[in-house]
Amino acid sequence: MTDPEQSNPMLLEVEDLEVRFPGSDAPVVDGVSFSLAAGRTLGLVGSSGCGKTTLARAILRLIPARRGRIGFDGTSILDLSPKALKSFRRRMQIVFQDPGGSLNGRMRVGEIVGEPLLVHEKIRGRVLQERVESLLQRCGIDPDTASRYPHEFSGGQKQRIAIARAIALTPALVVCDEPTSALDVSVQARILHLLETLQTEYGIAFLFITHDMAVVRHICHEVAVMDSGRIVESGPVDRVLEHPEHQITRQLLDAVPRSCGIR
Ligand SMILES: Nc1ncnc2c1ncn2[C@@H]1O[C@H](COP(=O)(O)OP(=O)(O)O)[C@@H](O)[C@H]1O
Ligand SMILES: [Mg+2]
Repeated sequence: MTDPEQSNPMLLEVEDLEVRFPGSDAPVVDGVSFSLAAGRTLGLVGSSGCGKTTLARAILRLIPARRGRIGFDGTSILDLSPKALKSFRRRMQIVFQDPGGSLNGRMRVGEIVGEPLLVHEKIRGRVLQERVESLLQRCGIDPDTASRYPHEFSGGQKQRIAIARAIALTPALVVCDEPTSALDVSVQARILHLLETLQTEYGIAFLFITHDMAVVRHICHEVAVMDSGRIVESGPVDRVLEHPEHQITRQLLDAVPRSCGIR
């Protein structure tokens, strides 16, 4: 299957996915289907608690799915053994909301960014150092600060470091789980710009989770709106934001200040 607008091949195809936690009577992710083409950005929006993070974790196989299919670059990854999954793992990365919590505070920034290269590509020494410096530079962090610890950086800088680590192995997919929600608006805009330029440069597809429709307008090509574990509305950003059909979509749009100029 290809993406009609861009004719990019489909990278991620999720079909009828269900996730339940032990002891819960209702599914948290309830029959979710969507697809994401290579090099494109799909916004996954919905209010707090609707199941966005759970869906993302199931896609990355960090938690099990009860039912459904996940196709990644043509392979059905729910059926893969842990060993076979390993080669897919490096091609899908995640950036979390809280950059402070997601970076190991006892590791130097250079070690954090270099770890995936060391583990997956066995790169070390001078070559590793150069790769790390170039990744930091690419993400707007002074490479001379590579020997510092995460707590010496601001929230926006920490998120840049997390992004540098996420793109170290040039993944095909980066799941961004509310990566700018904890940041000031001006810092947010610069991080979004960085993600856009990285997409253009490396052809990365983003599954971009947010509750902020202004962010969707800014960065996404397609959007899927989630409510109580289901996708209730989806399509190209222009169409969905101009002609919202679902009550939840309208509520999320109403939550954006008019000064943002998205309506
Ligand atoms: N590990 C877990 N065990 C049990 N329930 C969970 C777990 N993680 C999340 N939930 C529940 O699943 C629902 C969806 O949570 P989450 O996916 O984090 O929502 P969102 O990211 O959209 O805010 C919430 O009701 C939450 O309490
Ligand atoms: Mg969440």
